[in-house]
Amino acid sequence: MLKKNVSEQNKSNQSVPQHIAIIMDGNGRWAQARGKKRVMGHKAGMERAREMAEVCGELGVKYLTLFAFSSENWNRPKDEVSFLMELFATSLNNESKKLNKNNVKLTIVGDKDGFDSKLRKAIDKAEALTANNNGLYLQIAANYGGRWDIVQAAQALAVKGREITEQALQSELVTADGSEPDLLIRTGGEQRISNFLLWQAAYSELYFSDRLWPDFDGDALKGAIADFNQRQRRFGKTGEQVASESH
Ligand code: FPP
Repeated sequence: MLKKNVSEQNKSNQSVPQHIAIIMDGNGRWAQARGKKRVMGHKAGMERAREMAEVCGELGVKYLTLFAFSSENWNRPKDEVSFLMELFATSLNNESKKLNKNNVKLTIVGDKDGFDSKLRKAIDKAEALTANNNGLYLQIAANYGGRWDIVQAAQALAVKGREITEQALQSELVTADGSEPDLLIRTGGEQRISNFLLWQAAYSELYFSDRLWPDFDGDALKGAIADFNQRQRRFGKTGEQVASESH
């Protein structure tokens, strides 16, 4: 990826979704199928996450939001949670320079107060380093829950004494610029949202893949995008209305 404004680069290419969100499911099963410990699946999953950011940058996707750890994932075995926290901290430290070089703006979206000081420091450092970039906006959802996000947005409005409107609430969500995923992908064969971007996904096109996350490569992503391009997005209107608007 070169250091240039990705949306500029992609002005001629209307068929790439602006915002892709992914529920990266299936790491544990991927590892177990290979006789490895579940955490090895997370390690392989991390590699895929990196590849996905690269492919999205090349394609000119503006926002990529990856669900790395849900508010409910703390209930997993202690060893697995510790491994994931360590993996996040190490990856942030190892990857942030390269992300910066590639003009990626990295943000961690979620309740950061739940992390220990070592991870918080790694997050702050990586976010500060990449804060002024304007290529791919890579949002890692960690200690994130869609219900938590809506509640924290409502609380922020209450503290400011602001009227609760859809627009005002959306502006307080933790995802950047109130951006909503055009395409929401879930790997691993399950077909549910699992408390991911509940508000933001109101009109997302959903795409479910049976592939386990470590097997979901760049071609699989392009397949999902091709499927997305077959869909007619109506946003509550009729098919005829949408067709006449596009002429
Ligand atoms: C779900 O698979 C995956 C997770 C809970 C963790 C996701 C983490 C990564 C992909 C690595 C870190 C990535 C970044 C971007 C920091 P699962 O364990 O529920 O799989 P299973 O359904 O097969 O058990």
